[in-house]
Amino acid sequence: NGTGTAVTGAGTSHDGRTAEGESAQTLTTRQGHPLTNNQNTRTVGNRGPATLENYQFIEKISHFDRERIPERVVHARGAGAHGVFEAYGKVGDEPIAKYTRAKLFQEKGKQTPVFVRFSTVGHGGHSPETLRDPRGFAVKFYTEDGNWDLVGNNLKVFFIRDAMKFPDLIHSQKPDPVTNRQSGERIFDFICNTPEAMHMVSFLFSPWGIPANYRQMQGSGVNTYKWVNAQGDAVLVKYHWEPLQGIKNLTAPEAEAIQAKNFNHATQDLFEHIAKGEFPEWELRVQIMSDDEHPELDFDPLDDTKIWPEDQFPHLPVGKMTLNRNPENYFAEVEQSAFGTGVLVDGLDFSDDKMLQGRTFSYSDTQRYRVGTNYLQLPINAPKKHVATNQRDGQMAYHVDSAPDQNLHINYEPSSLNGLKEAPRSAPDHMPEYKGRLMRQTIDRQNNFKQAGERYRLHEGWERDDLINNMVGALADADRRVSDKMVELCTNCDPDWGKRLAEGLHKARGGKKAEGSGQSNEARSSEAVAEAEAT
Ligand code: HEM
Repeated sequence: NGTGTAVTGAGTSHDGRTAEGESAQTLTTRQGHPLTNNQNTRTVGNRGPATLENYQFIEKISHFDRERIPERVVHARGAGAHGVFEAYGKVGDEPIAKYTRAKLFQEKGKQTPVFVRFSTVGHGGHSPETLRDPRGFAVKFYTEDGNWDLVGNNLKVFFIRDAMKFPDLIHSQKPDPVTNRQSGERIFDFICNTPEAMHMVSFLFSPWGIPANYRQMQGSGVNTYKWVNAQGDAVLVKYHWEPLQGIKNLTAPEAEAIQAKNFNHATQDLFEHIAKGEFPEWELRVQIMSDDEHPELDFDPLDDTKIWPEDQFPHLPVGKMTLNRNPENYFAEVEQSAFGTGVLVDGLDFSDDKMLQGRTFSYSDTQRYRVGTNYLQLPINAPKKHVATNQRDGQMAYHVDSAPDQNLHINYEPSSLNGLKEAPRSAPDHMPEYKGRLMRQTIDRQNNFKQAGERYRLHEGWERDDLINNMVGALADADRRVSDKMVELCTNCDPDWGKRLAEGLHKARGGKKAEGSGQSNEARSSEAVAEAEAT
């Protein structure tokens, strides 16, 4: 079926035959022509000119010209590894079947192969891995029921709660379209007008914004999903990966020292540990909540800018993942891998989280463009089980996804002529009921500052110092309309945070008064704070 050769490049033609005088190592064109001279183009005399009918050269150079596919629009820089997920067969102390019928979780010791891609978010494919950025943590489970992708980040919350804002968020974090440089002013200009981002800021600008490597960081699904049991009843769940290697983050000076010598340190760390047999492990834990709006909480359970408090919703272990095999080819396995939040198996479902629905459209849409229409036929993305569809053709169609005894004339359903048949239903669907007005509105329980303030106070002293330093560094040269508003938002989270940021900015600007107003930055900020409190 070609899956092995695509990755390992066995070096023989498809059926493995070699012509007389050739060995399996003989260099050929992709048409199978043996190459006797790979050093010189075909020319008139040895000084040129070159000729146009030179198939060997044209095939080689034109393939090279097409060696890159578009980068991921976000998460372009990444590293990947293969491994295995082993189920505990229960959730905490309870049988897991009470909450989900997903087969991969049911039996203790059941193993499911996985592929994981870690990433940074904002910059290009060869950017330093020391940058302040969330880290992606995307896991593909090749289950017996087809693939499940858990597309998460290292941090447990996100900047925004509505997918409508995602392109703006990313534009503000990507390089300036004029200067092609990332700018703190642009990042905070968006954030200071997006108060729900403050919880994310409380993590991202602290050392939690630069994990020391990929092995020693947590992962989280961030958005809320559902689990569905054999009766079709659902609960809300959040997923978390806990690294059994412990957690390690870097301050900005520590990251700069690494970056001065090595901008691939996280990829190197992951690859070398796996190559040495020191396999990194993570425990998968879930938080569970009944499937309703929970009016007793001061936040909306579907709001991805919030953490579900661990004392009320404990992290319950459900299994362990071990990464134990490096990719053999970075491009085939890591670059072309494609994860999406829509890729769920029976027993797992979407919640009503509107951000999650926005994400779910975006992933497969971008992958049809980035990798191509038939990206699911590539070995890294294809399920490791029977696939039979009536989808045909399209760019780079590699094979027909048919059943062995299917009548290949029948690429439609239903049919009485030995075409594909729908699967028998094994358990009732989860069928939530909906009634509501169609609208464009933000959620009611926004509570943008409380958890951010709690996080500020929970940070250790050195983490708070680093948070202030990093924010001052990013904001010192920013327009005062942006930095003043950031002081105001930080003050809303915790007055000490606002005060320390204002003091830091004042110092970094050499104690200068705010232009035009005759007021100091702090004076203007405290006015703004008073105004905010009054409203
Ligand atoms: C990658 C969209 C929010 C985690 C991507 C990609 C897109 C995208 C278009 C590139 C995919 C590709 O080229 O294969 C969005 C949208 C979001 C959103 C529209 C919000 C509405 C999030 C959140 C998380 C996240 C909240 C974390 C929970 C990731 C990860 C990747 C990724 C880990 C890289 C996957 C890989 O390694 O291939 N996202 N994203 N994204 N996103 Fe999101």
